[in-house]
Amino acid sequence: MSNVIVIGSQWGDEGKGKIVDWLSNKADAVVRFQGGHNAGHTLVVNNKVYKLSLLPSGIVRGKKSYIGNGVVLDLWALANEIKSIEKKGILINSDLLSISETATLILPYHKELDTAREHKLQGVKIGTTGRGIGPAYEDRVGRRAIRLCDIFDKQVLKNKIENALFHHNPIRKGLGIEEINSQTIIKQLNEISSYIKPYVKNIWKDLLNLQESNKNILFEGAQGVLLDIDHGTYPFVTSSNTISSQANIGSGLGKISNHYTLGITKAYLTRVGEGPFPTEQDNEIGEKLGIIGNEFGTVTGRKRRCGWLDLVLLKQSADLSGINGLALTKLDVLDSFEKIYVCIAYKYNGKTYDYLPPTLGINDKIEKEYIEIDGWSQNTRGSKNFNDLPKNAKKYINILRELTGIEISLLSTSPEREDTILFKNPFI
Ligand code: GDP
Ligand code: IMO
Ligand code: MG
Repeated sequence: MSNVIVIGSQWGDEGKGKIVDWLSNKADAVVRFQGGHNAGHTLVVNNKVYKLSLLPSGIVRGKKSYIGNGVVLDLWALANEIKSIEKKGILINSDLLSISETATLILPYHKELDTAREHKLQGVKIGTTGRGIGPAYEDRVGRRAIRLCDIFDKQVLKNKIENALFHHNPIRKGLGIEEINSQTIIKQLNEISSYIKPYVKNIWKDLLNLQESNKNILFEGAQGVLLDIDHGTYPFVTSSNTISSQANIGSGLGKISNHYTLGITKAYLTRVGEGPFPTEQDNEIGEKLGIIGNEFGTVTGRKRRCGWLDLVLLKQSADLSGINGLALTKLDVLDSFEKIYVCIAYKYNGKTYDYLPPTLGINDKIEKEYIEIDGWSQNTRGSKNFNDLPKNAKKYINILRELTGIEISLLSTSPEREDTILFKNPFI
């Protein structure tokens, strides 16, 4: 028995969905433990594309799938996702999918507040996905959230919605948005509650039972370490903890025994939304990476900002998240670059930094130290064997191994499930 925690080591969209799908072959259960439908995880199986935002990626292989308490849940988005995945031939039932009864709900007023703040307020714009993620997490720590278990008791729901609106209506008024009547929300929740009810369970006991029966559990992170609310490039982050220790908190499995933390890492770097990005290439290199890598957001369709791989940030992520090994993705996107650059240190005011200082002013002015690596100018897309890779591609991988001191467990060479090279199985 062993467990694997998959997390993004960068700013999201590293290819977690593809790797989780590949790994889930060996898993008995797959668990989402944070984030919500801001996530967009893409899987390609025999040319068929699956885009998942809330459903764990293991669901495509028919693996037991859990949505943990750490997830913020938009029930209508989930219902639409279930319907769209069912259209692709994956039948979802309550044996397959379980949702934590204590998951926090994203309600329509969260989404409205998210977009209103992004568009109406002066000051810091985050470039959120506009899904209501931040406001829902705010309600959770503010102890006014509606949790999934609350929607099945009419009196409890009424009291809780009124309490939440006592907070939200004055804010809406201030932002010039129409106030909401509690009955409107209650009616919407009543309409969807019977559809959702079969999936709602105690998750932490189930996971504990699975672990005690020696089953392999795969934890599927969303976003990436650099978007972590505590450890990311604050305030340009998401509103949850995205590092691996969140797997315990967001699933309720207090002790994840015998586990391997796998950091999914793009062979270059992207970010969507605002915020610092020291190795960003806001030029023809970035354009080229974006076009070849098809760097457009799965969730919002926004163009992703592109740049060179940043080993300072990668090592920072690995340390913060206890990463045991990397899954390197999208190597093929670099196929036509004659020279490839990798950032190995930062300098500011004559001082060298091996981490990104948290003050934004410094980030903007920081000098980057790069190494130049010869490209391979050959096709690696679809490679399934390390020995078949061009010499310089192997060299690139070995340089990353050496400079980070982290083992590379997997290499992905195309979006397709099987275009994956295994060096070390994370399910030990
Ligand atoms: P996630 O959010 O981390 O699951 O990543 P996304 O699915 O949002 O974005 C990754 C994109 O890259 C998706 O379109 C994947 O199909 C694609 N992808 C994954 N691995 C590879 C790879 O090795 N090569 C190429 N070219 N595309 C990949
Ligand atoms: P996956 O799981 C990339 C970014 C948004 C924005 C910031 C805050 O597909 O890797 P939010 O809506 O969460 O309040 O937005 O976080 N962001 C992501 N970027 N991949 C994601 O998920 C993301 N989820 C959120 O673009 O900058
Ligand atoms: Mg994504």
